[in-house]
Amino acid sequence: MTGTRDEKSTGTLYGIGVGPGDPELLTLKAARILSNSRCIYLPTSRLSTQSYVTEVVQHYADDECEICLVTFSLTNDREQRQEHWQQTAGEIAERLRAGQDVTFVTLGDTLLYSTYIYLLRALRKQLPEAKIETVPGISSFSLAAALTNIPLGEGLQPLQVIPAANDLGIIEVAIASGGGVVLMKIGRSLQDIITLLDRVDALDRSVFVSRSGLPDQRVETNLKRLRGADEKAGNLAVIIVQGTET
Ligand SMILES: C[S@@+](CC[C@H](N)C(=O)[O-])C[C@H]1O[C@@H](n2cnc3c(N)ncnc32)[C@H](O)[C@@H]1O
Repeated sequence: MTGTRDEKSTGTLYGIGVGPGDPELLTLKAARILSNSRCIYLPTSRLSTQSYVTEVVQHYADDECEICLVTFSLTNDREQRQEHWQQTAGEIAERLRAGQDVTFVTLGDTLLYSTYIYLLRALRKQLPEAKIETVPGISSFSLAAALTNIPLGEGLQPLQVIPAANDLGIIEVAIASGGGVVLMKIGRSLQDIITLLDRVDALDRSVFVSRSGLPDQRVETNLKRLRGADEKAGNLAVIIVQGTET
């Protein structure tokens, strides 16, 4: 099938950032593409963020639109993850070759710690000539900053974004640099992070926002209130540590 079609007859992959979960926090372009989509791939995970992404998608998608759920593996095994995405990419590549446009949605911004990155890599291997249009979305930490009116960066301050599941030492070094720090993927490290922020005297310039843009969002400007919180409190949450240097 490949090589016999000219470029015009192949479909386009639209990678759409749908923002943190509030159907009003989408670009006009994302809303337009979702409304015009005939086929939308929707990644799902065990962290149940999917229902909110679904809600955003349903808000814009046409009733006739085909919704394909992709249950993605959260395994740290790189090979297993790649194999999984190769399968989904293969399916999407088939549709594109057949001239169908495909939309793939992702929570927050499209190219920030998202499943779309894995899909893109896999698709490029299978269909290097694929036409791809990526539309950025509002990241969870942009909304967290807006909800708390905390600047992410000011003047010449650097901003570091750290997936907090990593070594706490990395967070400590980032805070010591004096720039702003965003912690994502906090999960079960929440209590350890609060202890660290307390120790380095950064608690009073830190904010915590979980499930931003969703009906049960939680905004805390006093992180001490999270002491002893449920172990799930750190899921779908970000912490912003305001920088000191300007
Ligand atoms: C796989 S990453 C996806 C990031 C996403 N692409 C973005 O731009 O925000 C998942 C992490 O993003 C953050 N996150 C995503 N949605 C969120 C929300 N609605 N509220 C707070 N944090 C969220 C959490 O730190 C979560 O662990």
